[in-house]
Formats: sequence, structure tokens, C-alpha cells
Amino acid sequence: MQYYLLINTSTNTTHIQQINLPKNNKLTNQTSCTNISDLQSLISLLKDNPFIIIQNQNSTQLSKTKASNSKIRSLIKNSQDNLINFIMHYETWCETGITVNFNSPKIQKRCDELSKSDLLIKALGHKTHPTHIIDATAGLGIDSFLLATAEPNAKISLIEQNHLINILLQDGLDHCLTNQNIYNTCSRMKLFKANACDLIKTLPPADIIYLDPMFTNNSFKGAVKKSMQWLHDICPAPSESELNHLFITALKHAKKKGYY
Ligand SMILES: C[S@@+](CC[C@H](N)C(=O)[O-])C[C@H]1O[C@@H](n2cnc3c(N)ncnc32)[C@H](O)[C@@H]1O
Repeated sequence: MQYYLLINTSTNTTHIQQINLPKNNKLTNQTSCTNISDLQSLISLLKDNPFIIIQNQNSTQLSKTKASNSKIRSLIKNSQDNLINFIMHYETWCETGITVNFNSPKIQKRCDELSKSDLLIKALGHKTHPTHIIDATAGLGIDSFLLATAEPNAKISLIEQNHLINILLQDGLDHCLTNQNIYNTCSRMKLFKANACDLIKTLPPADIIYLDPMFTNNSFKGAVKKSMQWLHDICPAPSESELNHLFITALKHAKKKGYY
């Protein structure tokens, strides 16, 4: 007997079902759940490498394209935490289609336009030639990539605590290593999955520790890029005490004390 996970993107419910495929595509032994704790107990039924089937928006027909299933499998791997995180944010992810691609024309254009007046470059300080930069709030890694481009002698340590973002970012970095244009830049970028407050002290001292934590809900106004909107949806903004802790930890471990 094999169990499969069915994500119904139109009703926002998740089912674990025993499915006979490919013989007749009929669904049997359906169990449904609408909250995460039910889902957690159902997930324990899943075997390794669950095959994910997604019901499409407007009909009962199952969508099981090879590409989406392999993307989903690689995103959730076998971990239950991953799976729950993934399910919670799957719909937004589908709608926005966020991926990490440092070779995109948009990011390349941003790299070409980097100048001394860019706020990110100003934050580095004009006279420093850093050899190690920590991006303690890596997100989708765009600022890290720009920092690595601007400082060709620096190694960049990226820290990201959110599981799903971490997976997308690692996926983006892995792809870079097969791309000649950006190989040199990305080979100096190393990603860690952790809370920066815990990890920073275990890393070699950094010339610069870069922080770009999430906006709070109240300060998040106006039109923002869809990737940033998505980040905001899936990452709760840190509390004031978390922000203070991060800031104080960074100040303590950066070689050059000061901030921009
Ligand atoms: C505004 S986003 C950063 C965007 C990023 N600068 C970019 O260019 O894509 C903030 C990110 O920091 C992460 N974050 C916040 N606090 C963190 C911490 N203490 N340790 C690690 N990551 C953290 C959040 O999960 C979120 O992905």
C-alpha cells in the first residue's frame, strides 16, 4: 500500500490518499484534514519520497506533470518540517513562481549598474577591502550576490533561517556553479541554514556583517516587488527583541565596529 499527498489548490485542503496509479486514476481511502496538527499526524503515514499530486484549480482532474512533481520533490525532500512548511506556502509559491536565478537579466542589470552611490555599496564603506562578509539575513540572496560582485576578493557567508527560502536559495546557488558567467561570483558564496544569532559567533570574524531583516507589517507599505511580497508572506517579521539580539550579536562579532 502506498500513500500519496494530494494538495487541492482550489479548496486549500490537503489530503493523504491511497491512489491506484497509473491503472485507473481512481482515488480511494481518502482522509482529509484542514489544519496543521491533523496534517502532522497524517504525514506520519507517508513513506519516503512521497509522490505529490496536485489538483488543478477548476476541475477534479489531477495535474501530475513530471516537471512540477520533480520540483516539489526536490523542495520538500523527505523531511516532515519541510513538507509542512511547503504545504503552508505552496499556493503563494505557485502563484508567484519565485525561483532564485542570479543570471537573470534583472539581477545582471543591477550588477552592471552598481556604483559608489548605491546604498548597498555605501554601506560597505569606501576604503575597506573586505575579505569576509556575512549576510546574516540572506533571504533570496540578491544582496549577497551584489556584495560578492562588488567585492571580488571577498568570501560571503549567507545565513538564512527559513527552511523553504533556504532550499530555494541553495537551489539557485547550485545552478550558478554550472553557469560560467556567474561561477566565479557564486563559488565565493556559502549558505548556512541557521539563526544568525547562534551561527555568527561560530564563523571566522567578518569585516562586514550585513543585516536586512524583514519589515514589520505596519511599515510594509505600497507596491513592492513580488519576490519581496512573497518573502514577507512566509517570514514573520522579527520582534523588536529578536532584532536587538541580532543587531547586538552582529556588532559584537564584526571586526569593524559601526553601522550604516
Ligand atoms: C528582507 S529578507 C532579506 C532579503 C535579502 N537581503 C535579499 O536580497 O534577498 C529577510 C530575511 O532574513 C531572514 N532572517 C531574519 N532574521 C534572521 C536570523 N536571525 N537568522 C537568519 N535569518 C534571518 C528571514 O527569514 C528573511 O528571509
